[in-house]
Amino acid sequence: MLIDIIAGARPNFIKIAPIIEAIEVKQRAGMNIEYRLVHTGQHYDRKMSGDFFEQLNIPMPHYNLEAGSGTQAEQTGKIMIGYEQLLMDRPCDLCIVVGDVTSTMACSIAAKKLNNIKVAHVEGGIRSGDMTMPEEINRMVTDAISDYFFTTTVSACNNLRQAGVPEERLFFVGNTMIDTLYKQMPRFRKPALWQELNLREKEYIIMTLHRPNNVDSVENLKALVVEIVKGAQGIPVIFPVHPRTAKVLEKTGIAAENLHLTEPLGYLEFNYLVQQAKAVITDSGGITEEATVMGIPCMTLRNNTERPETCTVGTNELLGTDPANIVPALNKVFAGEWKKGGIPELWDGKTAERIVDHIASVFCLN
Ligand code: UD1
Ligand code: UDP
Repeated sequence: MLIDIIAGARPNFIKIAPIIEAIEVKQRAGMNIEYRLVHTGQHYDRKMSGDFFEQLNIPMPHYNLEAGSGTQAEQTGKIMIGYEQLLMDRPCDLCIVVGDVTSTMACSIAAKKLNNIKVAHVEGGIRSGDMTMPEEINRMVTDAISDYFFTTTVSACNNLRQAGVPEERLFFVGNTMIDTLYKQMPRFRKPALWQELNLREKEYIIMTLHRPNNVDSVENLKALVVEIVKGAQGIPVIFPVHPRTAKVLEKTGIAAENLHLTEPLGYLEFNYLVQQAKAVITDSGGITEEATVMGIPCMTLRNNTERPETCTVGTNELLGTDPANIVPALNKVFAGEWKKGGIPELWDGKTAERIVDHIASVFCLN
């Protein structure tokens, strides 16, 4: 059996690493299972792509579609054309897509429309209800045409049941991003800036922002960063800047003694900083899951989340996008009043194994 594994953007690389590893375990045990790793090229900077392959020991992609950046339609089109060509040369039996980025949607459409190739969506079923986010459309389209769904939570399963997905196509398996987190935790390491800035455990804040709603306007971005710096009560704020954000941030002219900008960090360095932080402020999805598992207070600068368990079970809280909400929330952290949180069901580091076991059983492999 030939499986295509699709990855295009930073969070994808983190989610596919354990799936590849689980497939390779089966191969070594003699199972008839082959895979092709297809990098769409949606992310291409070393700091957004190559470094993750190195740090997480992901094999070199078999193909790179080199789609690059562009408008939503341009990027979707380029990825679909590239992947369709690859499938015409040699079709796969199953296309695995992960998460909610444009590469996920584009490849699921290309596979499905060419010969009705089976598609499995890892992290299927989550919904923010926010149609202004391109990711919500990616999730809805991908789920509408996928054949198999590997879900991170019970609520994701319920969303799919409500949409009429039959039980035999639905697998509640947990979270492969957390598989990677547990596996790599012993390797987390201090970034160079730790010494440079003389950082100390629980005495700095780490933040990331990259959602168009927060970062595409100079005024919005500036107002958010100003409030974060203000709320930090003088302790360092470490801000690894996504390339999308970098373009706008330089126009804000913002500078403060306790604000430290850096390029996107490697996975091992970034998560070291999260693990030792006083608090995390973000609009990322994946980071709220990682902060939950590591028990670090997490504030999300969005009005909604497709990952409600990070709030109901974990350490995450939605602050909305009004900058005025930031200082009171940080005050709560400094007062030691942030909730402690727990870990969602099946986020146990064994999700990828379960996924590959289900695939083996559905496709009658042994
Ligand atoms: C994408 C995903 C988002 C995910 C994020 C992870 C979609 C619709 N969005 O957002 O869900 O949370 O990745 O980081 O798929 N750029 C570079 N170098 C790169 C990649 C991007 O400079 O390697 C810049 C380009 O100017 C590009 C912009 O970032 O136009 C946006 O990149 P894009 O992949 O379109 O979306 P993200 O904002 O990264
Ligand atoms: N991440 C990283 N370095 C950084 C910022 C984030 O390694 O400088 C990791 C983070 O630990 C998580 C993933 O990137 O595993 C989240 O990606 P991102 O926030 O870009 O996307 P989202 O999860 O919002 O789709």
